[in-house]
Amino acid sequence: MLAQLLEEKRTLIVVGPGGVGKTTTAAAFAVQAARMGKKTLVLTVDPARRLANSLGLEELGNTEVRIAPELFAEAGIPLENGGALYGMMLDTKSTFDDLIERYAPNAETRRKIFDNAFYQQASTALAGSQEYMAMEKLYEIREQRDYDLIVLDTPPTSNALDFLSAPDRLEDFLGSPATRALVKGMKAAGRVGLGFLKFNTFVMRGLNRFVGADTFLGILEFVQSFSEMYAGFKARARRVREILRADDVGFVIVTSTNRTTIDEGTFFYEQLASHGMPFGAVVVNRVRTPFLAPDELEGLERRLIEAARDSEALASADGYHVQQFLKRGAEHCRDYEIMAQVDADRLALVKERFAGNEDRIYPVPQLERDVHDVGSLAEFAERVTSVQGAA
Ligand SMILES: Nc1ncnc2c1ncn2[C@@H]1O[C@H](COP(=O)(O)OP(=O)(O)OP(=O)(O)O)[C@@H](O)[C@H]1O
Ligand SMILES: [Mg+2]
Repeated sequence: MLAQLLEEKRTLIVVGPGGVGKTTTAAAFAVQAARMGKKTLVLTVDPARRLANSLGLEELGNTEVRIAPELFAEAGIPLENGGALYGMMLDTKSTFDDLIERYAPNAETRRKIFDNAFYQQASTALAGSQEYMAMEKLYEIREQRDYDLIVLDTPPTSNALDFLSAPDRLEDFLGSPATRALVKGMKAAGRVGLGFLKFNTFVMRGLNRFVGADTFLGILEFVQSFSEMYAGFKARARRVREILRADDVGFVIVTSTNRTTIDEGTFFYEQLASHGMPFGAVVVNRVRTPFLAPDELEGLERRLIEAARDSEALASADGYHVQQFLKRGAEHCRDYEIMAQVDADRLALVKERFAGNEDRIYPVPQLERDVHDVGSLAEFAERVTSVQGAA
């Protein structure tokens, strides 16, 4: 069950395709952990404005904010046993800036990097950097703070591999013979002699893979300054990669009942296994559950109309509309039951795909209201069930 997962792990990394409910899941799990008495941090990426507002998280790039305990009390779930919730909105650019601050050997290099047009563009838009920076921040907080649990929300994964291999790619890039040759060549040639590198497409391809950039000279200057921090960055990328394999870390894969997202979730699950990274749970979000039995559905329209006739609603001036309304209401109920049946089948598919981990499959129903404050996040967490033991 959810409580067990929250007890067992020190870090949860919530992943999944766009819009399935990653941010909601991360925040809800964090709320639940705080209620269990844990000092919890939710590190979130671009939360919906309403969620950020209601938690008091707006415009607070890269600093931890305590979520007011009064919000819990107001929602009727006062925090007890020392539980506390903190939130932080991840800001890729300032995370990168912090890193440069840390590893630049001197003020001169630091200034050169910050002033570099390529850096300014790259540090906000580095392909794969959002993923990398999220983990970078996670690493830093795990090292320096005393949270019982950190829940990391992530940007939508267009490609699971990109996410899992971000530290490797940075390390590969920094350590590749091409980069070394580039750096060495630049040191020897100085800025005047850089032209020859234009033709070194191998190097440029390496760069493009990580940065997707086009400002040529800017890149060269960048790499030159960057190279001075090379060792620090490289060692760090390796440590960041290590935490993705730690036992007290768990990946939480979020999916909907939509087939494509289940396929993506399955792919991610397989990738985790092949990278030796720990699976935590799979959340199947927005599951529609049946609310009428087949015999209740049978003749629903007729029974509704009969009831309305008895109450004389049908004889009133807008009787025709009442009849249409009831007819459509009954149709919707039948459609909903079909969707609920589809969702039940999809849940069965998830069970098949995650065989052996049935106790780590958490369906969450489609809630009636949007999930955006402490109360509804707590409800979301309470509605997490486990398919284990279900038919
Ligand atoms: N079970 C649910 N019932 C009702 N509403 C939900 C549920 N899960 C999520 N939502 C709502 O769906 C919307 C999208 O959720 P969320 O922002 O968590 O998705 P996401 O995966 O983080 O999206 P993105 O990939 O864009 O970051 C939010 O408004 C959220 O409140
Ligand atoms: Mg999100």
